[in-house]
Amino acid sequence: MPRGFLITLEGLDGSGKTTQIKRLAAWLKKRSPADPRPEDPGARLSRQGLASETWDSRRGLVLTRQPGGTATGDRIRALLLDSRSTALAPMAEMALMFADRAQAIAEVIQPALDQGKIVLCDRFTDSTEAYQGGGRELGSEPVLELHRLLCANLQPDLTLLLLPSLEASLDRARRRNESASAKTGQDEGRFELEQDAFYSRVWLKYREIAAREPHRIVLIEGDLTIDEVHEKIAAAVSERLLTASRTG
Ligand code: TMP
Repeated sequence: MPRGFLITLEGLDGSGKTTQIKRLAAWLKKRSPADPRPEDPGARLSRQGLASETWDSRRGLVLTRQPGGTATGDRIRALLLDSRSTALAPMAEMALMFADRAQAIAEVIQPALDQGKIVLCDRFTDSTEAYQGGGRELGSEPVLELHRLLCANLQPDLTLLLLPSLEASLDRARRRNESASAKTGQDEGRFELEQDAFYSRVWLKYREIAAREPHRIVLIEGDLTIDEVHEKIAAAVSERLLTASRTG
């Protein structure tokens, strides 16, 4: 049975990651030479040899997110993101992120990979390195060490890192969170209360990770339209899946 394929999406709050991951999931589900859409870069690639078996052999797609994605993880998420969780110590915050991740790997991610599925995960350990390592200034080392200890050092096959400008991301994240909590009454705004200096450290740490791991991470920078970002993502995913299907 072919091994599955783990794709993670990363970026600042308001980078458009969640929109893109849903679009990527829909695009992956539709991909097949029997369904060519000439305007779509993936369809062009599929005519160049990305056979339908590339997708079909993965036997399905799992979409998940962190924190969250399991019943336990959703409870951890509520605790972490609620702005009433004041005075949460940075180390406790990092430990909770890893508790969530260890549960998600055990319950969702590893079983799906073992069944040969494609797993799309909205945030993974790069988020902890950027937010807790960079933003909270805990440094990269404890994050990477905990990842080795608690997550068996599971590495994504591909990470798509969306980095529009800091200003555009923050503006979008803060407006979105206000309107979401007005609609649902759910408070997920604890991180959006952070100062710009915090986000600037997160942004810099993301860039540092991308420079350190260029083979795994595809960096999509600048204030692009939703369609432009999707095209870049589709092209990167096509190329990597094709390579994986040739070598695996
Ligand atoms: P989301 O809004 O993309 O679902 O992410 C929730 C928030 O949690 C976001 O502000 C980033 C933060 N976060 C961390 O600080 N560390 C982590 O390891 C993860 C996964 C998320």
